[in-house]
Amino acid sequence: MTPPTPLIAGNWKMNGTGQALGEARAIAEAATAAGVRLALCPPATLVERMSRETAGSKLEIGGQDCHSEAAGAFTGDVSAEMLVEAGARLVILGHSERRAGHGESDATVAAKVSAALRVGLEPIICVGETRAEREEGRALAVVTRQIRGSLPAELSGKAFTVAYEPVWAIGTGLTPTLEDITEVHHAIRATLKDMFGAEGAAPAILYGGSVKPGNAAEILALPEVGGALVGGASLKAADFLAIVAGAPKA
Ligand code: PGA
Repeated sequence: MTPPTPLIAGNWKMNGTGQALGEARAIAEAATAAGVRLALCPPATLVERMSRETAGSKLEIGGQDCHSEAAGAFTGDVSAEMLVEAGARLVILGHSERRAGHGESDATVAAKVSAALRVGLEPIICVGETRAEREEGRALAVVTRQIRGSLPAELSGKAFTVAYEPVWAIGTGLTPTLEDITEVHHAIRATLKDMFGAEGAAPAILYGGSVKPGNAAEILALPEVGGALVGGASLKAADFLAIVAGAPKA
């Protein structure tokens, strides 16, 4: 099986109003020459405008979350159907800020993944251990449990991506050692193959958590790492494109 095409995706979190769209346009202009897939996941309010303003480029637009239902009495939520209509092609699901801040369990995440598949959105499914779990030697067990619980069987044969994001590395400037990233990525790949057979070799496995221009090249050079999910450093085109420049070309 050919290795997955690397993906570098930016997660703007709750940052960005219309004024920030110039950053997305600059990233879109660089997307054709990037040699890897590029995506930006802005707040829901910007998905449609960002999609429209970067239409015709190779930049893919994604949401940061979706509800498992298509419509209904769910105040404040956005459905997968709505994201697709707004121009999204991808959606981040199970980010630790959703798991911790909004009480999302593995089963919640799995239902959201099913919703994304229902409308052809490519899920980027996030997993990762807390600092305490790593210090207790439970990182691999936690990540493996999250993979098994958050990935529904119907992902078989579908396009999807997994992002390993240690909770303690997100927004902190801290990153695991390259050996630790490799070890967790190996465990994720083995679990995917156990769950999906040979097809488990297809999905890219991203690393996320304090990826910056200064550390991206060495992380992205790891053979197990199929790209990056970038938070803070994706808000400025210059930083994001410096990260992209460090990626091995597909
Ligand atoms: P960070 O966030 O790059 O700002 O650490 C990564 C993420 O939460 O996806």
